Amino acid sequence: MAGKFSPIIIGSERSEAGIPAAMEILRAGGSALDAVERGLRYCEDNLQDHYIGTSGLPNARGIVELDASIMIGSSRAFGAVAAVKNYPNPISIARKVLEELPQHSLLVGEGAEAFAEFLGFEKAELLTPESRELWLKQLKTIPQESIEGENTKATSGDERYRLASLELVKRMAPHEGPWGTINIIALDQHGELVCGVSTSGYPYKHPGRVGDSAVAGAGNYSDIRYGAAACTGRGELALRAGTARTVVENIRAGQDPETACANALLEARALPDDFRAELRCLSLTPDGRHGGAAGMEGSTYTLMNEHSTAPEFHPRRAL
Ligand code: GLY
Repeated sequence: MAGKFSPIIIGSERSEAGIPAAMEILRAGGSALDAVERGLRYCEDNLQDHYIGTSGLPNARGIVELDASIMIGSSRAFGAVAAVKNYPNPISIARKVLEELPQHSLLVGEGAEAFAEFLGFEKAELLTPESRELWLKQLKTIPQESIEGENTKATSGDERYRLASLELVKRMAPHEGPWGTINIIALDQHGELVCGVSTSGYPYKHPGRVGDSAVAGAGNYSDIRYGAAACTGRGELALRAGTARTVVENIRAGQDPETACANALLEARALPDDFRAELRCLSLTPDGRHGGAAGMEGSTYTLMNEHSTAPEFHPRRAL
């Protein structure tokens, strides 16, 4: 390894689908930016995973909307997209926002899709038969008169869409974790620290809902001076509490990464929230220390370093 730093990569639950491929890049001396993008692309393309990329669970109308972001620790440059339809790899579009639109940080909806089209990204159907089946199963459990969706035969209008989505969001709120958002944070041999997040968001969310994953400081933050942090779970809490940035601020104040995560979660947990569901976070510092926290016992995060032969699973501190 030619560089001064020992490469290391960590990720949230189910990031193990992409972490080995990302680690290959770091081992070959590649950049943390390439590693994070590659790792998350593998996760986005994993059809077994219904919380990210292709086969992600749809919004209340049965349409998959994806959010993703990537942040570079040395410059705090940030690229993100949100509520993107029909493009299977939002993390790559987010990276292009960072690299090719430095005057902006976040593109949403049609604008993000127009940018992806302009750059030649391939479109795809994101709702797989299996994820559609899961959505329809959920719809059957709410009163028939409030069901509507572009993928159903129902014909009434926007008011019914709105009612159906609100009903679903309300009912899905106490969703038991772990949530499907995926975080990957990598430190490369040059000491660059990059944090990426990708998600299909809150299952059966209100159309247009954007969570923490696309917002710097909420679900994703990287500052080379102190550390990087990312969140999974109830994004509205992370948005309100600025959780990823809080973790980094806690590290700046001298806390180890695990304690920094636990204290940030406690702060978010203190907020009033009728739709409470679990929030988790994890963190990696520029000197390779790492940690995570969650609301549930038995939660883990994934790690690989230059000595790993396979992803290792580390416990998160349970609050
Ligand atoms: N943390 C992902 C979301 O709330 O969308």
